[in-house]
Amino acid sequence: MSATGSAAGVASGYDRRRELQAFDDTKAGVKGLVDAGVTAIPSIFHHPPESLEDTTTSPPSCTDGAFAIPVVDLSAAARREDVVAQVRHAAGTVGFFHVVNHGVPEGLMAGMLAGARRFNEGPAEAKRALYSRDQARKVRFGSNFDLFQSAAANWRDTLFCDLAPDPPLPEELPEVLRNVIMEYGDAVMKLGLRVSELLSESLGLSSGHLREMGCMESLHAVCQYYPPCPEPHLTFGIKSHTDPAFFTVLLQDGSTGGLQVLVDRGGGHRRTWVDVPPLPGSLTVNIGDLLQLVSNDRFRSVEHRVPAIKSKDPARVSVASFFNTDLKRSTRLYGPITDGRRPPLYRSVTAQEFMAHFNSVGLDRCPLDYYRLERHTLRPAV
Ligand code: OGA
Ligand code: NI
Repeated sequence: MSATGSAAGVASGYDRRRELQAFDDTKAGVKGLVDAGVTAIPSIFHHPPESLEDTTTSPPSCTDGAFAIPVVDLSAAARREDVVAQVRHAAGTVGFFHVVNHGVPEGLMAGMLAGARRFNEGPAEAKRALYSRDQARKVRFGSNFDLFQSAAANWRDTLFCDLAPDPPLPEELPEVLRNVIMEYGDAVMKLGLRVSELLSESLGLSSGHLREMGCMESLHAVCQYYPPCPEPHLTFGIKSHTDPAFFTVLLQDGSTGGLQVLVDRGGGHRRTWVDVPPLPGSLTVNIGDLLQLVSNDRFRSVEHRVPAIKSKDPARVSVASFFNTDLKRSTRLYGPITDGRRPPLYRSVTAQEFMAHFNSVGLDRCPLDYYRLERHTLRPAV
């Protein structure tokens, strides 16, 4: 698919590139369209009907036995080897797990979500001033980072903040979340380090291994804002994708669910989308592509998505925190850590190159496939 026109765009003869540019030029994001009272969504947001097919059905909830997203208790009382075993199982199957007793205060989580909501529902001028596609800016607002790469845009706006290793100056951050986001970032970094120890141990490595490899050097927080959509059956809040970095800590709004994950039930069953309803007080961890690569497929970076929010529902807010290498300074090559049983499935790559590849293709294609060694592409068993 070219950057200048999707198949749908060409077929209906509209100038997709011009529409994208006009939307980008408003610097007001999707919320700007909603505020302007649109009742039909612009064509640039139309996704192919086949990708939307199973969004309106009610998929089995993840609390139904076979589909359960594991809940990992991080309190000191739990036995280490049990926790490590739970993390290993979750990371190697569904790729997602909730954490409870994680040490991030509930008031801080609520404050973070409220700050993200206030920013997005606040004055358009404050958002316009931060609107940028320049990745060098530590704090920026935007809608669809891959607007000009993807075949279809998503019904969501985003505030991006690089929190570590070079945090922004306080005055670079919107006032409505200035204090809370720095405090939240510190708490999530502490939690992330604990999770990285469990993940390292789950791979049979020493607890500091992933940290010492540089996987925890940077923290990038993304406040996602999903406004209600007048035609939710035609688009997504965020289409199916995998997260590119090492792992993600997701804070979901406790009252509005929406996250769905593609679950493999095994035994030749078709993979199924299931809801991941927010578990009050919990945070959700998911494995990213770079961790799947270094774990040589022992951990899985699994597709997930958020359908568009219906117009009668309130806007949904979430905060995703991505852990990665220091993309400015690191020159380290990341390749599979093999356990001696399987040859490496990927070629080595720097995190910068991996992320640059992700940013150039957007959410439409998983960057992992690009680095997978061809002779090991999966073939049906004979
Ligand atoms: C993401 C993401 C899910 C959510 O930001 O990569 O998948 O619940 N977010 O907003
Ligand atoms: Ni994601």
